[in-house]
Order: sequence, then structure tokens, then C-alpha cells
Amino acid sequence: MSFSELPPPPEVEPGQDLPELRTRPPGPQSRTWLLRLSRTAAPMGPAPGFDPLRGIHSEARPWTIVYATAKGCNVLDVDGNRYVDLAAGFGAQLLGHAHPRIQKVIELQAPRLLQALGDLHPADATIALMERLAKLHPAASARVILGLTGADAVTAALKTAMLCTGRPGVLAFEGAYHGLGYGPLRACGLRPGYREPFSPQLGTPARFLPYPASADAAEQALERARFELARGDIGALLFEPILGRGGVVVPPEGFLAEVCAMARTAGALVVADEIWTALGRAGSWLASHEHGPDLVCLGKGLGGGLPISACIGSDRVMSAWRRDPEVVHTSTFSGAPLSAATAIATLDVLKRDDLVARSARVGAAFREQLARRFVGRKPVRDVRGSGLMIGIDSSEPGSASRWCRRLLERGYITTTGGGDRDVLVLTPPLDISERLLTAFCDAFDECL
Ligand SMILES: Cc1ncc(COP(=O)(O)O)c(C=O)c1O
Repeated sequence: MSFSELPPPPEVEPGQDLPELRTRPPGPQSRTWLLRLSRTAAPMGPAPGFDPLRGIHSEARPWTIVYATAKGCNVLDVDGNRYVDLAAGFGAQLLGHAHPRIQKVIELQAPRLLQALGDLHPADATIALMERLAKLHPAASARVILGLTGADAVTAALKTAMLCTGRPGVLAFEGAYHGLGYGPLRACGLRPGYREPFSPQLGTPARFLPYPASADAAEQALERARFELARGDIGALLFEPILGRGGVVVPPEGFLAEVCAMARTAGALVVADEIWTALGRAGSWLASHEHGPDLVCLGKGLGGGLPISACIGSDRVMSAWRRDPEVVHTSTFSGAPLSAATAIATLDVLKRDDLVARSARVGAAFREQLARRFVGRKPVRDVRGSGLMIGIDSSEPGSASRWCRRLLERGYITTTGGGDRDVLVLTPPLDISERLLTAFCDAFDECL
């Protein structure tokens, strides 16, 4: 299959349009593409509603579509159906799809330089990005390790903690997700199936604390933290300021401050995995800023749609890399100039358009609307989150998956979270119009 075989993208609207469905999703084109996918994709965990082994949509959950193109908050599938995107590339399309500034920067940088030589002969764009990222860290002076994926950033943070403290232990959280590369996998508290089949290759497993959602649970988690840290082998406390894939869980006031203080007293580094929460997603530049993390991991939205990630650490902890014999952490494409340029553009647009504050404001109003209309209406139990990172929690197993499917049939793309996928997760682009959010509420009303 060559690229020219692909059909030309259908006409795309400006990006804030309501859904328009020509066929019931998945339409015939999506089904054909998925059949082709079934012949090549390794059969690892079906896409929702799709059985890659048998190449068919299971009748119970027939709801996988194939994207053709996207603009702003709208996605068009290969059948020409237009959706409103409240998943935004697993939260990564902070500026929406094909943002004009990102497009422009790609146009300018692509002919200039696509690859330099990593740390041997770096690119100007890469250095400029590192300067910008260092300024995001709460420390007066910080240093940066770039990568491609979120898992890369967490790997760099765990390696830094090992070098800096000499301790291999990692204290992480049940329900947490830090990526599936072998570094972060040992700290993956989400589903046993992610980690357990590989445990013989993972070395010392992380130790896990419950991620608290209430004051009582916080007390218990702190008790466990005290016990684990007292053993003296923990080099890193790794946490998400809001549990993302684990179901958008916001910890009770004061918990993170306390557990971070405990870790520091015990000689461990504080590592904030902000791959999902940062850059406005949760309504602030860094959700962990007030806890003064030693290391912060960024990814997802940083590249404006291109893959790039960063581990940013205070000068003090990053100086652990200055060693003899030389210790190196690098990869062929980390900090590649094209994604470095789009990352700079992303930071510029977030600032220029005040999207971080908008996320906090619009997200609060949206959560308020959702709570007012739906909490208490069975089976909706809770609406929670921060900024435009929102979870709708259900008291009935399986209902978030059902909502997801019914919403797709009404033209809204969403995802699920939580150990049993019992939370509907909403992470739209930060510039989504209030009209679309209200239209989503009306569609959700119908789904219930
Ligand atoms: C909090 C968090 N950390 C790390 C990751 C891993 O990022 P990636 O999939 O880019 O490796 C994710 C991905 O969802 C995430 O949500």
C-alpha cells in the first residue's frame, strides 16, 4: 500500500462544528480498513469492539472507527462522518488538530532541518526548546533530558533518581500509569495484565501505595508511605498529580504535599509525572508546581501532535549525570528539530491565547454543568477532575464503555479510564467552544 492509494481527505470544516453522521459508525469504509488491520496488527488486546484475531466487530461492542483527517475539535472518519473530539489524541491535542500555528511551523522547519546528531551536533531548535522547558521547572535553575514518548521521560527520571540517590527502589501508586516501556512498567499500578507477564524481566518491582480519593484513604496511604520509606531503599516517589488513566482521581487537599515532604525527608527524589496533567490540561502549567518536584515529566501535548517528551530536573539532581566513567542517556531521534519546533510553537500558543487559564475556567463551568445535570441520575456517581481533564464516574460496571459507544453513535469521541474502565474520560482540546460542550451534555443526556 502506498500513500497515494489513500483516498484524499474529505473537506474539513473549520474545527468547532457539531457532529454530522452519514452512516452509523462504524461505517462500511471503517469496517474494511479494520479488516485489513486485523491481518497485520499483533493481536494484543482488542481495540474496543474489535476482535483483531477474527477480524470482526464483536456484536456486543461494535464501535471502532478509522480516522481519515481532523481539524480543531472535529475528526472525520473514512466514511465521511464528522465527530466532536473529546479524547483529543488521549489528551495530547491540547491545541486541537492541525492548529494553524503548528502547521506553519512544520512548513518552516521541515525544509530547514529534520535531523541533527543528537548530543554530538545538536540542532538550534532543540537547544531553544530546552531553554524554554528549563524555565517551567519550579527550581531557579533546571536541566532537561528530551525523549520521544512519555515512557522515555519517566525512564530518564527513574535513571536520574538512581544516579542521584544510589537507591533502586521506586514508590508508586496503585492505578497509576507511566507508560509501558520497561523503565516505567515496573511502576505501572493500573492493570495487572500490563506488568505481570513481564515481571521476570523487570528487576526490583516498585512498591505501591493506594491513590487516595478521600481524607480517610489519604491517612491510610500516608501510613503505608511512612512504612515503605522507612526501609531506606526508595530513590524515587513517582506520582501523577491527578490519576489519569486510573480514572481521573483528584487526591484530597494536602495529601500530595505531605507524601512529597515524607519522601524528601527519607532521601528520595520527588518525581511528578505530568505527562497528562501539564501544559494547561488540568488548568495550570504544572499541577505539581507547589510541591516543588525534583523531576517533572512532560509528554503528550508538548509537541502539538508530534512525538516529543521531556524530563526536567533541578540542577542539583541533574548533576548526578556528570560521572566518570561517562554515563549517557540518548536516542537517535530524541529532541528531533521538527518536534522541537512544534513544541516551542505549542508553548507560544498556550501563552498567547491564554489557554491554560481558559482550561481552568471553562473546565470548571463544564464540570459544574455535568454535575448539575447528571450526578445522582443512575448510574452517574460523580463528576470530577481539574481544568479540561474530566471523569464521569459510574456505579455500574461496564456503563462507561456503553456510554462511549452511544456517544460515538451520536458523533462524540470519548475514552474510558479506571481499572474496570468504569469512568468516562473527557480531555477535549483546550480551545473547545462552550457550544460544543453543551451539545455534548445534551448527547450524554440521551445516552443515559
Ligand atoms: C500519566 C502518564 N504517564 C505516562 C504515559 C505514557 O506516555 P506514552 O504513551 O507517550 O509513553 C501516559 C500515557 O497515557 C500517561 O497518561
